[in-house]
Amino acid sequence: AAPVRYESENATISQGVVESNHAGFTGTGFVNFDNVTTSSLEYTVTVPSAGPYSLKFRYANGTTTNRPLDVAVNGTLVANDLGFPGTGAWTTYQTITATANLVAGTNKIRTTSVVAEGGPNADSLTVDTVTAAATPVA
Ligand code: GCU
Repeated sequence: AAPVRYESENATISQGVVESNHAGFTGTGFVNFDNVTTSSLEYTVTVPSAGPYSLKFRYANGTTTNRPLDVAVNGTLVANDLGFPGTGAWTTYQTITATANLVAGTNKIRTTSVVAEGGPNADSLTVDTVTAAATPVA
């Protein structure tokens, strides 16, 4: 299936605000997490079948300090302290990819800040099928 992009500004925001003052985002803006450990963002993601998917988080971090996020799928932690290192500028967006199993239908993917500085500026989450490495023929 084709990758599907979910804009952070359409996600459920807990302790964060939608902003658009740093160009380079897709959609209408990005989410600026509050600078606290509990700020979070929950995307509602729908996939046709159960299995592993690539979760591609597009973000900017104009500091030189990592801003890790915990990633949970349907309430289960799937990536602990996933790293979002500095991108050089708040207008420079990069992508960090995690892999997680999703269920068929609706999934709740939550990213939560784990350091006092909060998370990076969150532009979007793209969900894509995982391309398996070719299996060598014996
Ligand atoms: C700056 C920047 C924000 C960013 C914030 C932060 O204020 O303009 O976009 O979210 O720093 O450090 O979290």
